Amino acid sequence: MPEVRGTLHAAPILSTVAHGLLRNVDTAAALAMPGVRGCVLVQDIPGDSMLATYVHDEPVFARDTVHHVGQVIGLVIADSVMQARRAARKVQLAIEPLAPVLTARQAHAAQSYVLAPVVVRRGEPETALAASAHTLTGQLEVGGQEHFYLEGQVAYALPLEQNQWCVHSSTQHPGEVQHWVAHALGLENNAVTVQCRRMGGGFGGKETQAGHLAVWAALAANKFKCPVKLRLDRDDDFLVTGKRHPFSYDYSAGFDDSGRVTALKLTMLVNCGFSADLSGPVADRAIFHTDNAYFLSDVEIASYRCRTNTQSHTAFRGFGGPQGVIVIEAILGDIARRLGLDPLDVRLRNLYGIEERNTTHYQMKVEDNILEPLISQLASSSDYRQRRAEIAAWNATSPLIKRGISLTPVKFGISFTATFFNQAGALVHVYTDGSVQVNHGGTEMGQGLNTKVAQIVAQELGVPFERVRSTAADTSKVPNASATAASAGTDLNGRAAQYAARNVRDNLAAFVSGLDGCGAGAVRFEDGKVTSPKASRSFDEVVKAAYANRIQLWSDGFYRTPKIHYDKVTLTGRPFFYFSYGAACSEVAIDTLTGESRLLKVDILHDVGRSINPAIDIGQIEGGFIQGVGWLTTEQLVWSEQGRLATHAPSTYKIPTTGDVPEHFKIALWHEANPQDNVFGSKAVGEPPLMLAISVWEALRDAVASTKPVGEPVRMEAPATAENVLRALG
Ligand code: MTE
Ligand code: MOS
Repeated sequence: MPEVRGTLHAAPILSTVAHGLLRNVDTAAALAMPGVRGCVLVQDIPGDSMLATYVHDEPVFARDTVHHVGQVIGLVIADSVMQARRAARKVQLAIEPLAPVLTARQAHAAQSYVLAPVVVRRGEPETALAASAHTLTGQLEVGGQEHFYLEGQVAYALPLEQNQWCVHSSTQHPGEVQHWVAHALGLENNAVTVQCRRMGGGFGGKETQAGHLAVWAALAANKFKCPVKLRLDRDDDFLVTGKRHPFSYDYSAGFDDSGRVTALKLTMLVNCGFSADLSGPVADRAIFHTDNAYFLSDVEIASYRCRTNTQSHTAFRGFGGPQGVIVIEAILGDIARRLGLDPLDVRLRNLYGIEERNTTHYQMKVEDNILEPLISQLASSSDYRQRRAEIAAWNATSPLIKRGISLTPVKFGISFTATFFNQAGALVHVYTDGSVQVNHGGTEMGQGLNTKVAQIVAQELGVPFERVRSTAADTSKVPNASATAASAGTDLNGRAAQYAARNVRDNLAAFVSGLDGCGAGAVRFEDGKVTSPKASRSFDEVVKAAYANRIQLWSDGFYRTPKIHYDKVTLTGRPFFYFSYGAACSEVAIDTLTGESRLLKVDILHDVGRSINPAIDIGQIEGGFIQGVGWLTTEQLVWSEQGRLATHAPSTYKIPTTGDVPEHFKIALWHEANPQDNVFGSKAVGEPPLMLAISVWEALRDAVASTKPVGEPVRMEAPATAENVLRALG
């Protein structure tokens, strides 16, 4: 996007201390640097100095206290981005250090939380545990994950006439950015328009946290009365923005001789960072996914939302779901090892049933259960049983390199857990030449949403895909839109666009029925033609004639997801419209001398309902899976004892590359449509495949187990870096 003449650039002033009292900010040396126009600090905020987050607990700029290394204290504004960044480093901060709290366990011991704990319970887990034939107790640590969107966080704020504002934001939620910017500037929402053509990746990292950048850029633009662009340097992006929540778990599980779970008591300690952000709904979704594919009869899950002196952790693909799924998969893997059973058999034994054992711990009935046939189909297409025997034989003769294999499922609930988010709007404009524009409340981040929505509109109007263009997300077109998140982008916006297109089509059908004296229902829209029992005309011809007869050629559409409801206190009800399913079989090898590992083979069978676009869906499955592999193998976040994130660049933070993708990477789509009435019978795909990567982590534990006596559990932290694999080997 070309910059407007006179654009200034901002760079953030970052806290160098994890927890402390901010005594003084001395900007003199920064102001003396070339190209510097000035600074923006807390006193330059005309509106509320707290961000308009739901919990309203986060300052726009750190004020009296700093809460993490990298917290933004203010901005330096200069003619060029490099001038601003160099000068920001010259700002002298006087901070009196306080003791930082860096882990969830420390915060829990100190009873320091961002939100109240939530407990979900069914049956009598204590009694059931005491009566269980076997028990397993343990702890698990699962690390966070940096989003590493290829395009970093960026915002460009332009003051317009009459105190109106335009903000270009790389955001998954333009409506919230609009709201936050207006709030900070002390304006009404109608003064601010936010646009997002597309993001170079979001992955949840731009669901709320794009808003910070936009607010900061707007405050600078307001002070200097000119356009201001703020693009974080990659290292700063790591230091400033939140990540996937790290989780710590304590559990006691009871089970019978067949490996069936009879009781579970689980404590989840969620490292939320210094403020609430989306931690409440993320931690709730972890609770909703602790069952994964399995029936838990007597269960208690206690979730503590711990406050730490780190970045404020946020949405990340799966939104807490992965942190729920991994712990039950870890427990089932260890139950199998304890009993000397094949972990797949233990998993199959615990699956939700069809007639019974079919209600989740939050009282939602699993109506559309395809787990057993889906897993069985993958077990046979991947040759799981045969390969497991071969691997065991191979391990018996290979002293240093050990292999492992695992097949794990996923069941992922689709809908925002905040019920009110499950609404969407769209606009479909048909122009007089028969070309079509669609605008919807969603945002494009590489997941193919605009393509799918355009396909849906094209299908509805019976015109070729090429006739439909999706325009940039824009709060002045579709207002109050929800974040593009929870994988529901197509379900919501696609349906809203379908309804909008249907309204236009109905107008055209009524017009044609008037011309031809037939019922409107008899008019067909297909292949760029409009056909009645009497005549066939081109779509363009009908549009032109309809316009001349003053027929409305554009419409809005609105959709709200049906059937969903739940009680926010007890977390019971039907939070999800439906479930998406899948399973993966992964094979790995480890080097027992170095702990290094390699992913050898992956077979995936995934349920996207009736696919709207198989190329996009398979791309999402590949991308989600590999991103999950990164989370669970190489992407390790390390905070120093002083709370400084040591891994803040690709030199020290290792995401997967094409070289990490196994040559054998086979993906198949489940053949059935969504039984719920979702757009064109499809299912959401964006997040669920990430959790299939837990099969890789379980395969690594399987490889480690081959070095241990039967019956011994494998204690391994995630991610399974070489160091953690070595530790697990002992
Ligand atoms: N795919 C790409 N290429 N880039 C992204 O940023 N975000 C993921 C997923 N797939 C993402 C992606 C996340 S976190 C979500 S919630 C969904 O896309 C959001 O889009 P959808 O609802 O349209 O699937
Ligand atoms: Mo995705 S974590 O719901 O943005």
